[in-house]
Amino acid sequence: NIPKFVKIVEVGPRDGLQNEKNIVPTAVKIELIHRLASTGLSVIEATSFVSPKWVPQLADAKDVMQAVNNLGSIRMPVLTPNLKGFEAAVAAGAREVAVFASASESFSKSNINCSIEESLARYRAVIRAAKQLSIPVRGYVSCVVGCPVEGLIPPSKVAYVAKELHDMGCFEISLADTIGVGTPGSVVPMLLAVMGVVPIEKLAVHFHDTYGQSLPNILVSLQMGISIVDSSVAGLGGCPYAKGASGNVASEDVVYMLNGIGVKTNVDLPKLVMAGDFISTHLGRPSTSKTAIAFNRV
Ligand code: HMG
Ligand code: MG
Repeated sequence: NIPKFVKIVEVGPRDGLQNEKNIVPTAVKIELIHRLASTGLSVIEATSFVSPKWVPQLADAKDVMQAVNNLGSIRMPVLTPNLKGFEAAVAAGAREVAVFASASESFSKSNINCSIEESLARYRAVIRAAKQLSIPVRGYVSCVVGCPVEGLIPPSKVAYVAKELHDMGCFEISLADTIGVGTPGSVVPMLLAVMGVVPIEKLAVHFHDTYGQSLPNILVSLQMGISIVDSSVAGLGGCPYAKGASGNVASEDVVYMLNGIGVKTNVDLPKLVMAGDFISTHLGRPSTSKTAIAFNRV
């Protein structure tokens, strides 16, 4: 039942870097995106057009986007929380955007300062504007198994938000375990609920690796027919508004597993490890990717 090809959505330059305390120079971000682009990745989330007061690390979104918006056929979505962000993204040359809602009311408030319903209304406006320009819009649902404040989130709530995003026109819905608390025990019922309302080929999974459960969670997701996986080079990442959450699952580890089970990704693993080495060296700490560590030992 496992798909023969998995599309990897590399979120390192955005999710990976957004939580870094020290500002990463714009030139380093651009170099990272170029290196990732050379690995064969088809989608690289480049940055976010959010409030620089909320996410100071990505205050250079315009400069990053302008420098990478011409990288051939590679798709470079950027996060846009509202029309203001959408307009700035388009002005900088973005040709794809992503909106981000939550299945947890508390997380919606702390991350984007509004209720779930208010966020959905904002996203309808973004999608309306995007349609005029034929810009595809991806949708995220955060806290699909747990929330730092509310604890367990019922699958029905996730299905509701995913369906709203799909109905309003998102071409793909990424289901995010923001704080990385899920296991196959909670991920499977959540996916079953969402699959009941959104076609499986439009669903992506986005795991943070707080409890080391990402790879088993990805494997069960593939067994259920999911074929789009978000990950971050060197396992960078975390959301500044999700306390205690650690990085995304490392792209290197995902590609290593997929290679092992015969699933194609078109991503060159040694080149990906080198891109991870580049950013880890810059950040001055070792990669959290076990695959990268193993590669560098031999
Ligand atoms: P707010 O303070 O309620 O916004 O923030 P506002 O509309 O009241 O405006 C306040 C100020 O922000 C104004 O400026 C606006 O112009 C400005 P001032 O008059 O004070 O100088 N502003 C903006 N500036 C730049 N770009 C914009 C923008 N919008 C307003 N787009 C807002 C609301 C949504 C803007 C804010 O809460 C925000 O930017 N939040 C983003 C938080 C974020 O980026 N979180 C991380 C990404 S989500 C994530 O990591 C989860 C994910 O990975 C999946 C998962 O793992 O769960 C996707
Ligand atoms: Mg995330």
